[in-house]
Amino acid sequence: MNMLKRLLRRSPAQSAYPVAYEPALVPPPELMRTEGIEVLEEWFRWAEEWSMLLRVYGGITRNSAVLEIGCGLGRIAFPLRYILSAEGSYDGFEICDYKVAFLKQTFHQAHPNFRFVWANVHNTYYNPKGQVPAAEYRFPYLRGAFDIVYAASVFTHMLPEATAQYFREAARVLKSGGRCVFSFFLLDHYRPGQPRPSMFAQPVFNFDHPHGPYGGEFAIGEPKNPEEMTAYRLSLIERFATEARLELAQAPVPGFWSGSWPTWVGAQDLIVLKKP
Ligand SMILES: C[S@@+](CC[C@H](N)C(=O)[O-])C[C@H]1O[C@@H](n2cnc3c(N)ncnc32)[C@H](O)[C@@H]1O
Repeated sequence: MNMLKRLLRRSPAQSAYPVAYEPALVPPPELMRTEGIEVLEEWFRWAEEWSMLLRVYGGITRNSAVLEIGCGLGRIAFPLRYILSAEGSYDGFEICDYKVAFLKQTFHQAHPNFRFVWANVHNTYYNPKGQVPAAEYRFPYLRGAFDIVYAASVFTHMLPEATAQYFREAARVLKSGGRCVFSFFLLDHYRPGQPRPSMFAQPVFNFDHPHGPYGGEFAIGEPKNPEEMTAYRLSLIERFATEARLELAQAPVPGFWSGSWPTWVGAQDLIVLKKP
């Protein structure tokens, strides 16, 4: 906590990185490491990947009202400030208080139409002391407030009851015709024992542990910490979408994580939903 206080006291002008254009919005290395990122270029690569995904699959425009579930340290908010005009807006909520403290102190000061909220929601990996069960969390926004709701590597850390609730909440806060862009690890693409590329070779991506009453439709990577890494079958995601009155806008877009697709678009599999 002392380290965080020291980091958050740092004036926005004092960035740890010599990058062009608002370097103070890039978290210092100590904070970036809490997202498992050691390399600045990977930070920007993921951010730009999602900027592209939101343009291609989310239909984002300069005037969109956008909600990010689990906004982390603002990695994807970063490129969205090139896209969204003053008429557009960005809201993000996040369960790690120190991430939101950083964003309020830096990003929101520089871009008031980018707003960040802390949700004290429980997660075995990211917020084990959280007070509110994710399966009961109500998003702090009005019905029909957003054109796009997206979650980048967040349902990959959530259990099914919570995911079902987040789908219902996403449907409530979306406008009619609005879209969700959600990344998942799809069990449909997982091949036990097959080599996986890059960081996805780590054992935590071995989704060999079924969890809860979902049969083969849900699995976790680390039995000691269920929300460290999670994976779903498409059939379960479709069921949650239907219950929330959302529709699959297109077939899932394969990511490269599983090593089972010769062509892929991003790192994780992508689910695109629309509210009729
Ligand atoms: C892998 S990080 C991704 C962060 C951010 N989306 C990005 O792309 O940089 C996963 C994030 O999801 C957040 N998270 C986990 N469970 C959540 C929940 N139930 N509601 C909102 N955020 C959650 C974590 O705190 C963490 O910041």
